[in-house]
Amino acid sequence: MRHGAPSTTPTTTVVKPVVLADAAAVAERVAALLLADRLRPERPLGLATGRTMEPVYASLARRLGRLEPALAARVRDTWCSFNLDEYVGLAPQDPTSFAATMARQLVAPLGLDPGRVWLPDGRADDPEAEARRYGAAVAGAGGIGLQVLGLGLNGHVGFNEPPSDAGVACRCVTLSDHTRRQNAGAFGGDPDAVPRQAITLGMAEILSARRVLLVVTGAEKAAVLRRALAEPPTAELPASWLQHHPGVTVIADTGAMG
Ligand code: GLP
Repeated sequence: MRHGAPSTTPTTTVVKPVVLADAAAVAERVAALLLADRLRPERPLGLATGRTMEPVYASLARRLGRLEPALAARVRDTWCSFNLDEYVGLAPQDPTSFAATMARQLVAPLGLDPGRVWLPDGRADDPEAEARRYGAAVAGAGGIGLQVLGLGLNGHVGFNEPPSDAGVACRCVTLSDHTRRQNAGAFGGDPDAVPRQAITLGMAEILSARRVLLVVTGAEKAAVLRRALAEPPTAELPASWLQHHPGVTVIADTGAMG
């Protein structure tokens, strides 16, 4: 860089993961952080779907059930969350949609008002317009406070597939074959049954969150997690952009640490 030229390179944070024994311990820790956020809600919560998150929501429901009733009622009454993504073409009633997944795993067990749990509309006639509307809705609600993320095996977060630059906003994306294979379990094991497109919050919205919590469990994620934390940030590994976020916490189990 020339002397005196303004720096355009964002600061890279060295992220040291919080390492816990197993997926159950990770779920407990993440659920505790989510509940703490909801007890002092400042901005909307950003939520993810996926196998990693299932035990987190189960723990959150147990924790809410143990709260003093008035406090639990306040959490419910002030709840506001935006999910990262939704498949294009799936209605909320479709059991494989992320809306249905959140209804089963979060809304029902916590006793939330479904109108306080937002997701993109997978059935919108114009998915690109829906993505713009959803991104604007997140911004209009003040942006995300605490954003929880799972990690795709190819380094995606949300459905920001490689390559995704740090500045990409909420949009309609084409899913990679890799991701469709990863998510085939929810579609009877058939990758061809997984929708080809999704609407996802972009890296821009994710990196604008006040705090980011990347949750990673299982040995199959060890290689991609290591790369995401250690390699110079690149569009080829979207999770690596998190190194530019000053408020990122990685919570992983020993399996994911390799
Ligand atoms: C999915 C979702 C992500 C999720 C990730 C990990 O495709 N779009 O939001 O976090 O991949 O999924 P899993 O937790 O099932 O490994």
